[in-house]
Amino acid sequence: MQTDDVTSTQPTSDPNWWRQAVVYQIYPRSFADANGDGIGDLAGIISRVPYLRQLGIDAIWLSPFYPSALADGGYDVDDYRDVDPRIGTLAEFDHLVTALHEAGLRLIVDIVPNHSSNRHVLFQEALASPKGSPARDRYIFRDGLGPDQSEPPTDWVAAFGGSAWEPVGDGQFYLHMFAPEQPDWNWAHPDVHAEFLETLRFWSDRGVDGFRIDVANFLTKDLSEPLPTQAELDAHPRHLGNGRIDDRDEVHEIYAEWRELFNQYDPPRVAVAEAWTPANRRVRYARPDSLGQAFNFDLLRANFDADEFRQIIAENLALAAEAGSSTTWVLSNHDVVRHATRYALPDAPDTQDRDRRWLLQGDVDLVEDRPRGLRRSRAATMTLLALPGSTYLYQGEELGLPEVRDIAPDQRQDPTFFRSPGVDVGRDGCRVPIPWTREGSSFGFGSNGAHLPQPPEFGQYSVEAAEAKPDSILHLYRSALALRRQLESGEELSWLEAPAHVLMFARPGGWVNVTNFGVDEVEVDGGEILLASQPVTLSEAGKLRLPSETTVWLRRR
Ligand code: GLC
Repeated sequence: MQTDDVTSTQPTSDPNWWRQAVVYQIYPRSFADANGDGIGDLAGIISRVPYLRQLGIDAIWLSPFYPSALADGGYDVDDYRDVDPRIGTLAEFDHLVTALHEAGLRLIVDIVPNHSSNRHVLFQEALASPKGSPARDRYIFRDGLGPDQSEPPTDWVAAFGGSAWEPVGDGQFYLHMFAPEQPDWNWAHPDVHAEFLETLRFWSDRGVDGFRIDVANFLTKDLSEPLPTQAELDAHPRHLGNGRIDDRDEVHEIYAEWRELFNQYDPPRVAVAEAWTPANRRVRYARPDSLGQAFNFDLLRANFDADEFRQIIAENLALAAEAGSSTTWVLSNHDVVRHATRYALPDAPDTQDRDRRWLLQGDVDLVEDRPRGLRRSRAATMTLLALPGSTYLYQGEELGLPEVRDIAPDQRQDPTFFRSPGVDVGRDGCRVPIPWTREGSSFGFGSNGAHLPQPPEFGQYSVEAAEAKPDSILHLYRSALALRRQLESGEELSWLEAPAHVLMFARPGGWVNVTNFGVDEVEVDGGEILLASQPVTLSEAGKLRLPSETTVWLRRR
């Protein structure tokens, strides 16, 4: 079993490294393309390790890089223990691990245990085997209904639209909670357990530091007859957990098995759950005997509003402490509208669908206020980085990248777009390849175009342009991350009294975060200004004048 070979630059074997870590998500096909095929690759990431190191993050989360037909951006995995040849090789993966570790960065990889792709060898075996065979039992097959068995077993709707059941031509259907190319595993089958334990061991042995667990809440299902209708599924209150196919208590038995494996490594491998469940249920995934950490998407769904932020922060700090974990903070990822754009749109009136993809439909006439989106992004990022807990950043947010809204239908890739005609524009707009240079083919992403079209103005958001501008958001991220490293001590936060629309809290050592969420300038007690998201002034009397939508970090003795 591999242990960390600790040299002066390599990560230490601190088992708690993840608690306050800043993790940067790389969507590999859109990060950097070294071989000029229009698709980002591992060699591209390796070439950008100096950039990642300079940014000041602690770890990388790498979205799926496995062989895949890309029916769902790589979340349709053909082989969990290999690298997509368009992205690289296992030898290059080993290189990446070494390069990251030498730079003091850890690596978390994405594991997709709810479903494989329909090209996975075990699903192909299931298709080639007769009804009722052991091979079919590794997935979820049921007989169709009606005289000729042509009707699906239930009316369940897949997450990407359309029926959740796909016929296979012999009267049976298989279940897919997502695209038809993503058949759900049957977690009641011991082979499935063995398969994933082997996969987790495979990557842990290669030096991977942790895992991001895709739709961690869906694995176990109660499929006893009679199966419920979609209306019955929808009627189940989610905060109670234990829906028939979602967030069942016994899913944690799987994670207890994984935890045992993780703890055989030094330091123990970590895991973070993606579970879009209510906060009271989400923390169960963050318990030390389960996955240990869970994404908290509450701020991602919040308006840019002091009261919403305060309530979410307080609730999540308390919940995480109760669970024996640290909380996480997220504003963007590869599934939601980039926050520079969300914050440029009018506030959402209610909390439904706060990622607000529907606002971006072609027929909705909404004007983005980009300077405002950027101003709020700068302020919100500083607030997040001042909080106790672990923050997950999404590639390109450090450049203030907006969502790309005008992608032609024939250039779109996301199955949500194709399976929900006219309803959901899909997630391609946040997955457009990163601009590295002002000019040139695909703005430095690669030498030969990009797999999703970059808009002409992308050059102005490039790393090259940001480097040259002392007040760019990239420089703000670098300064904030460097300061966070210096200032951080402990996991405590105390709230300080503040005017309306202002959030003020202190961390140990006199580090104070002040954020003005409002539209008017406010005046608060000052201190030593460490960093500000916009230019601010101190009055002679030592008062801090804080413009609208601005965060300042102060030191107060
Ligand atoms: C998760 C992923 C998303 C994917 C889905 C199905 O939500 O983040 O990108 O489409 O799971 O695997």
